[in-house]
Amino acid sequence: MVSRDEEGLYYALDLGGTNFRVLRVQLGGPEGRVLRQEYEEVSIPSHLMVGSNEDLFDYIALELSRFVESEGENYHPKPGRDRELGFTFSFPVKQTSINSGYLIKWTKGFAIPDGVGKDVVQALHDAMKRRGLAMRVTALVNDTVGALAGARYWNEDVMVAVILGTGTNACYVERAEAITKYHGESPRSGSMVINMEWGNFWSSHLPRTIYDEDLDAESLNPGEQGFEKMVSGMYLGDIVRRVLLKMAEDSFLFGTEVPANLYKPNILRTPDISKMHQDESADLREVAKVLKSILGVSSTPLKVRMLVVELCDLVAERGARLAAAGIVGILKKIGRDGSCLSNRSKCDQGEGRHTTIAMDGGLYEHYPKFRKYLQETVAHLLGEEIAANVSVELSKDGSGIGAALLAASHSQYVNT
Ligand code: BGC
Repeated sequence: MVSRDEEGLYYALDLGGTNFRVLRVQLGGPEGRVLRQEYEEVSIPSHLMVGSNEDLFDYIALELSRFVESEGENYHPKPGRDRELGFTFSFPVKQTSINSGYLIKWTKGFAIPDGVGKDVVQALHDAMKRRGLAMRVTALVNDTVGALAGARYWNEDVMVAVILGTGTNACYVERAEAITKYHGESPRSGSMVINMEWGNFWSSHLPRTIYDEDLDAESLNPGEQGFEKMVSGMYLGDIVRRVLLKMAEDSFLFGTEVPANLYKPNILRTPDISKMHQDESADLREVAKVLKSILGVSSTPLKVRMLVVELCDLVAERGARLAAAGIVGILKKIGRDGSCLSNRSKCDQGEGRHTTIAMDGGLYEHYPKFRKYLQETVAHLLGEEIAANVSVELSKDGSGIGAALLAASHSQYVNT
């Protein structure tokens, strides 16, 4: 993946949610590693998330060129060379080479029909050309893959990367010979990274409720991303809202009138339920505040507030446990779950070694109870002995640096 020899100035662009991030990093080779880095976060106007591909990429190219113009003297592009960019694009893509790939579908609230089926690197190159920005994308990566590359740069025990943010996904390092779908040349390292796109996982065994079904049916992408809709930050708040609405209608939870705001999709966001869930005050003051400011419910008995907390707990716990089950499934697949104790050949593949799972995303980072449920479930499913060899570590913003590293290791100027 990356070798640690990477040197020079590289850029990264991270597009995958309501914000995108631009980053530059000066790499110093095996000794200096990451000498310095700077980034900026730009929010995407909501009309661009459902507009045209050209408008979205023109906006990105504009912000990227502004960022490049602000490059200070501490950053040193090599004379006569175009700047190079790692492009983290966090949507399902059919990747055709290290720097090309076709968008399969949008997720997470994006719906730009004319982008589907197009090469996203080409779209970015075209927009940069229109802007007069001389820059080349040398690596196109999913955010999970960027996170894995960024975390493995520092720690070779990292075998899995998981994103739990607006959306969710995971990738892991697999032995090339275990990939039956792959018929290309065997990589020198003997292994490859699999981007699972687990957000789209579906099984009739998932504990799906009528609330999940309604949420899915009313979403921008019905029938898609079933697992993501039960687990990730974009949806947990709205699941809670749907249950509250049902209780308000059927059982007069908030009095005889149903609060009008409860009918508004996505009005209750995951940070709101995290705030309520984490309320430690005796009279659940934070819960009262959120119910008032978001739903317009001015006073609630303590019993009702307790019930709201319990509901947040249920929804967060279910999501966290499902994500944990996914992680343990990966560990099983790569033989790091203790199963080698009954099959010695698996032990040779790294069983008994420490395994680190690099985790990124706002849901995991900012929702301590979700985090706790996830860690507890991973430990519980693995058992104490194996769990002692597995750690889940927050690797914040690793995907940007990871993309820059991959841009460096695939530079068009390598060997020149
Ligand atoms: C996308 C993935 C991405 C994940 C986390 C999902 O909606 O399909 O490609 O990795 O979100 O950002």
